[in-house]
Amino acid sequence: MYILGLESSCDETSAAIVEMSEGKRRICANIIASQIDIHRLYGGVVPEIAGRAHIEAVTRITHEALDTAGLTLRDIGLCAVTSHPGLIGALLVGVNFGKSLAFANNIPLVGVDHVRGHIAAAYLEYPDLVPPFLGVVLSGGHTSFYIVRDYTDFEEIGATRDDAAGEAFDKIGRVIGLPYPGGAALDKLAYEGDKKAYKLPSPALAGDTLDFSFSGLKTAALNCIHNAEQKGEEIHRADLAASFTGVIADGFAAKLKMALKQTGIKTVVLAGGVSANSHLRAAAQAVCDKRGVRLCLPPLSLCGDNAAMIAAQGYYEFLAGQRDGTDLNASAV
Ligand code: KG4
Ligand code: ZN
Repeated sequence: MYILGLESSCDETSAAIVEMSEGKRRICANIIASQIDIHRLYGGVVPEIAGRAHIEAVTRITHEALDTAGLTLRDIGLCAVTSHPGLIGALLVGVNFGKSLAFANNIPLVGVDHVRGHIAAAYLEYPDLVPPFLGVVLSGGHTSFYIVRDYTDFEEIGATRDDAAGEAFDKIGRVIGLPYPGGAALDKLAYEGDKKAYKLPSPALAGDTLDFSFSGLKTAALNCIHNAEQKGEEIHRADLAASFTGVIADGFAAKLKMALKQTGIKTVVLAGGVSANSHLRAAAQAVCDKRGVRLCLPPLSLCGDNAAMIAAQGYYEFLAGQRDGTDLNASAV
């Protein structure tokens, strides 16, 4: 079955065609129109601008996805669209476009949870991957551990209690003058610094919880910067990047070990924009290798927001019986 995926929850408009059937998972097209250059001027995503930019891009990139795949709408057996969570004005563009397209062409429609979509990116990279596994979502909006019992059966067993990892990376990136979004730039810069240079608090909460908190770490890093400014000193950006990334990687590794111990699960799937971070990938690999656990890392091209992952998850939601109609609505949460 060919599935048209649509994604517009934040600052990427994406349309993809994925072929899914028993034993087959194939990306035919995955077109992404990024708005990063527009939002960079403001140091972060401006919701109203994001909504408008989605409107301008969505029709064009849907045609582009069909053309790239060499298909027409008549070949499409399912339309899967991100319906939540995300920026409401941005989500509404994809949802309304998807509803109109599905209704006009008599194609079944399913609304897809964006976070589940991130996890489904791994199905496209690992043809033999099947639940159950431990799903770890590290993104701009989420930092969560899930037991993925089945394709549509998720139990959250740990999460951030405040900011997500990506928000923390972006915030610190911005204050040390890196272009938005700061995550990828901090990743590189961290190689040039000493991770012991600045003492920062771990985002991993103490005790046997699998929860995180990034607000204390963020404040501590900002205080380092402000203290240096007040003393007329220059902050060593690479050292701060290394210390900040190091404490996140160590905290993440500690909670990953705990999650594996608590659940006894032998397969881990990393997902979300922040799972592109090379230090976090290495930390996860070390934890999993030591315990004989299989680690499935999405390719960098599928870590960030894209519609192929939405199409993949949409297929499993459809198989599980989900059908949405013209009353499908977007939700910010
Ligand atoms: O999953 P995503 O594309 O969007 C959400 O669903 O939130 O994640 C975007 C986040 C941004 O905060 C960005 O800075 C971060 O992923 N990111 C990274 C890296 N590449 C992207 N963070 C750390 N290291 C990276 N290499
Ligand atoms: Zn995302």
